[in-house]
Amino acid sequence: MAVGFNTRAVQAGEFRDERTGNVTTPIYETSTFYNPNPNPSAYKDHTRNKPFMYTRWGNPTLESLEKKYAALDGVEESLSFSTGMGAITSAVMSLLKKGDRLLSMKELYGETFLFFTKYLPSIGINVDLVKLDELNSGRVNLKGYAGLYAESIANPTLKVCDLSLLGKMSAEAGVPLLVDATFASPYNQNPARLGAAYTLHSGTKYIGGHSDIMLGLAGFEKKNMDTVWAKRKMFGATPDPIQAYLGLRGLKTLGLRMKTHNRNAMEIARFLSTHRKVDKVFYPGLEGFEYNEVAKRNLTGFGGMVSFELAGGLDAVKDMAGKLKIFSYAPSLGGVESLFTLPVETSHLSLTPAERMEAGIAEGLVRMSVGIEDKEDLIEDLKNALG
Ligand SMILES: Cc1ncc(COP(=O)(O)O)c(C=O)c1O
Repeated sequence: MAVGFNTRAVQAGEFRDERTGNVTTPIYETSTFYNPNPNPSAYKDHTRNKPFMYTRWGNPTLESLEKKYAALDGVEESLSFSTGMGAITSAVMSLLKKGDRLLSMKELYGETFLFFTKYLPSIGINVDLVKLDELNSGRVNLKGYAGLYAESIANPTLKVCDLSLLGKMSAEAGVPLLVDATFASPYNQNPARLGAAYTLHSGTKYIGGHSDIMLGLAGFEKKNMDTVWAKRKMFGATPDPIQAYLGLRGLKTLGLRMKTHNRNAMEIARFLSTHRKVDKVFYPGLEGFEYNEVAKRNLTGFGGMVSFELAGGLDAVKDMAGKLKIFSYAPSLGGVESLFTLPVETSHLSLTPAERMEAGIAEGLVRMSVGIEDKEDLIEDLKNALG
């Protein structure tokens, strides 16, 4: 029976034990398990199809999270990680070996950019970066690449990748597509349905949803379980069961939260786009935004992230920042509370000014993570701060 998103969010993957009658998945805070487990009906860890043995390898609370996430994102298999970067590095390293080439885009999350431009070349893996627009043009030649890596909504410029086009290109060329869909969340986009072989998330963001955990998730085809799992185990990027439990709990309300994030962000983007002090608004759902048409083809909702530039540049931004009362000046995103940040001070701090310019990040660019507070209050807060 095909059931809806919220039904899957609540019901899928729960680790129920008839002997205890627990309704929700318990936190299995144990590092080790009987080994061998002599019980013929012992639960089998889905990572190995053998009884659980050691939590770095697998754990029932993690498995419950992985199954719920897989049911929501339409992937065959999934693994959870201690952070989003744990998921990204493990998945990429499971696919590539010395001498391989990876194609990706310039507008990457800062740490991923460092991984691709500093670390991978140092171990003999070459990475070519082209602008997201070039990927979207469909004119890139994938011949000779071992993988194509994209962020479905780029941070912080909110440019949108034409994933359905990239998915087709990847299938034709036989080059696996890896997609970081953190900004979209599994509610607004399912990259696997658009042709991605690996879907990656910082679960720290919308999946956790309350700015209180670090977590990563990777979804992929069953045949890739062993290789991704081997990297998680070796890098030690397995999450703690408490973090996994909080991610599992977060997923249950993802649909409810995303609906409000989507609606609030849309209203705020519209408000900002008519404000005389605002030069430019970046929001995938905004009519007239360059990527609105691509967004409509690839997303079912436009998300809670809105960026904008003020006419008065950095000074005007600092002035506004000091006056906001509901929005907190803090990095990260995807929580129930509204936050704002200046990418030059946080996510893109490690980039040179030239690299930032290349990625379209002006000094005075503000990135907001619009929360689930009442939209009238958020707009009032912005109105007062802008003056
Ligand atoms: C798009 C994107 N991908 C990956 C990450 C890394 O996630 P984490 O901090 O959970 O390692 C972030 C963090 O901000 C992000 O914004």
